Amino acid sequence: MELNILTLVYLVASVTFILGLKMLSNPAAARKGNLIAAAGMTLAILATIFLYEDAAGSKLGNYTWIFAGLSIGGVIGTMAARKVKMTAMPEMVSLFNGMGGACAALISIVEFNHMTHQTGGLSDAVDPVTLLIILLGLIIGTVSFTGSMIAWGKLNGRVKDFSFPGQHLLNNLFILITFALAGYMVFALPEGLHIYFYIILCLSVFYGVFFVLPIGGADMPVVISLLNSFTGVAAACGGFLYDNKVMLTGGILVGAAGTLLTILMCKAMNRSLLNVLIGSFGGGSKATAGAKEAGGHYKEISLSDAAMVMSYANKVMIVPGYGLAVAQAQHVCHELEKTLEARGVEVKYAIHPVAGRMPGHMNVLLAESDVSYEKLLEMEQANEEFKTTDVVLILGANDVVNPAAKSDPASPIFGMPILEVEEAKTVIVNKRSMKPGYAGIENQLFFQPKTSMLFGDAKKALQDLLAEIKNI
Ligand code: TAP
Repeated sequence: MELNILTLVYLVASVTFILGLKMLSNPAAARKGNLIAAAGMTLAILATIFLYEDAAGSKLGNYTWIFAGLSIGGVIGTMAARKVKMTAMPEMVSLFNGMGGACAALISIVEFNHMTHQTGGLSDAVDPVTLLIILLGLIIGTVSFTGSMIAWGKLNGRVKDFSFPGQHLLNNLFILITFALAGYMVFALPEGLHIYFYIILCLSVFYGVFFVLPIGGADMPVVISLLNSFTGVAAACGGFLYDNKVMLTGGILVGAAGTLLTILMCKAMNRSLLNVLIGSFGGGSKATAGAKEAGGHYKEISLSDAAMVMSYANKVMIVPGYGLAVAQAQHVCHELEKTLEARGVEVKYAIHPVAGRMPGHMNVLLAESDVSYEKLLEMEQANEEFKTTDVVLILGANDVVNPAAKSDPASPIFGMPILEVEEAKTVIVNKRSMKPGYAGIENQLFFQPKTSMLFGDAKKALQDLLAEIKNI
């Protein structure tokens, strides 16, 4: 009877995961979707703790250990999530994802020891299918854990990009030997399984570290998404192992969602996954021709002139970027939008799919300040509308409006779809200096005749701009 209730709870939990994931695709429903899926997961965890029975009919027990772990993890997780800044979100996702990978790897280690203990150390008594699943969980979980830790360190600046000649070759060798050893263990079931098992663990640790170390900073969100999908697959292996349906569904959903997100991000940058993984793009070290070398000349605009131009425009398009998030200027940006609209100006936002530092960064940021979703235009739609736009106001965005992506085949971002802001009548760029963006490349847009620079921190500049507009 209890088993049936447990199966039913797992079914309900799986439905909440699917529902939650579906709701995450719409900003208006995303928060609710997240809560629904979290409630489903809580239900599944509690049901497993209290209802699960093994073949002999005994319950899990160990309640002190389980609830001590749950409480410590719950407190740390809640505090970290409350404290984290929006700009540090990718590194937190990476850290939490790494923990998932570590859990999957630990499950494999525990279950391997359990299995070899049960068979009394006789290799040929081991079930090869179970061994295969244990090894897959071990390899994928470990790579996800160590890779995510390096990604976390790189995003918060503790770990620097590192590569050496032949690194990709060495990496390929690592992973090849790892899978060859795993295959040998499963098919030949040799004596001394333990030794092979721990060699595979070590190789997976090395592979995870060396796989992520050379990847450029701007590509980290793609790598994190890929590692996220690895964690999902590793968790699904745990689901197979324990014949736990909810773990299996959850793992497969994370694996599939992570893979799709990785593909979508690569598409948005017009780069293949292989190029992301071996390209070491965007570490900030590859600045191409500087402004002076290019003989560029830029002009500045005063606050009062910018206020005037925007107040008398018919249509203003705001392009938010990473700088807006850094300055936490989303609320004052929304206020500017409302003030301009009160003066009869049509205001919209042009959102590039990889603006900022994580997928949907700008949507989340603007939703936080209650900007209406209908005002957020996707790239294709925005590019259509720039032709009829009087003023484009770029707030802390750089790479996503860089025309080199279309015109300079030598540029590392060549081929990346961009917001074609130069189609508008006037372009005002707010940033603090002439420094390049995350990809480390110059932006010729800043030197075009229709572009004017409005220097300063986005929040301060917007506050001053707002005051000027209100005075007109
Ligand atoms: P970036 O190209 O990084 O440019 C941001 C600009 O903001 C900088 O040039 C900086 O110039 C300015 N800035 C920083 N702090 C500021 C502040 N307080 N006030 C005003 N301006 C400030 O940003 P983007 O255009 O959003 O492009 C995103 C980049 O990340 C792309 O290269 C993209 O490929 C990469 N990326 C994103 C993702 C996702 S999923 N979002 C995934 C992979 C890669 P100053 O220092 O002069 O102020």
